[in-house]
Amino acid sequence: MQRGRLDKFISKRLNVSRRDVRLMLAQQRIVVDGAIANDIGQQIDKFSLITFDNKVLQEQQANYIMLHKPVGVVSATKDEKHKTVIDLINLPEKGSLHIVGRLDLNTSGLVLLTNDSRWSERLTLPESKVEKIYQVTIEKPLTEHYIDAFSKGMYFAFEDITTKPAKLEILSEFVARVSLIEGRYHQIKRMFGRFDNKVIKLHRQQIGNLLLDSCLQAGQSRPLTQEEMLKI
Ligand code: URA
Repeated sequence: MQRGRLDKFISKRLNVSRRDVRLMLAQQRIVVDGAIANDIGQQIDKFSLITFDNKVLQEQQANYIMLHKPVGVVSATKDEKHKTVIDLINLPEKGSLHIVGRLDLNTSGLVLLTNDSRWSERLTLPESKVEKIYQVTIEKPLTEHYIDAFSKGMYFAFEDITTKPAKLEILSEFVARVSLIEGRYHQIKRMFGRFDNKVIKLHRQQIGNLLLDSCLQAGQSRPLTQEEMLKI
């Protein structure tokens, strides 16, 4: 269930009529997330904790995980050849997680995983314009031309799209910070490819206002705090 009405859920789950549900609510026998329910139209979702006469009818924990993805690990839930980001997670219910914004095999850095698809959809919708920030090391020296070209966008014939304005900051001769609000296939590598400049190292440092925790070594993960989950 993504989201729906409480009365519909109770009626189906206990095989009773909606009229019976009204009565149960009036008798204060249904509790949602610790509060006695009294509104038949109350909205619930798959993470609502719902009890009837103190018996749990629905209980699922929402998980929000930050992972420091190492190079050589694939952003997939299953893979024949490589270790996956899921293999790195130490959580009994890790099978229900999905990845919020993949990274290439040879890219490292911040990956988010969750079982809450409403949260991940909000983060990945193009109109949400959530910035993803990468540190990029390239083979040949950077010039000011890159800044302009990245901000103007580049035409990708294969997808027939022009990339959205991207910010490029020159940190040193061979290192740039790039901020994207979309995630096209191999986007950063292809953008530097226009200058015939090979990406040697690519690391995602930030998604929205969430920074990769510097205490996490490559391969380590931790749950997001409630504050982090909400602020992103
Ligand atoms: N751009 C790339 O080329 N690769 C990534 O993993 C992310 C952005």
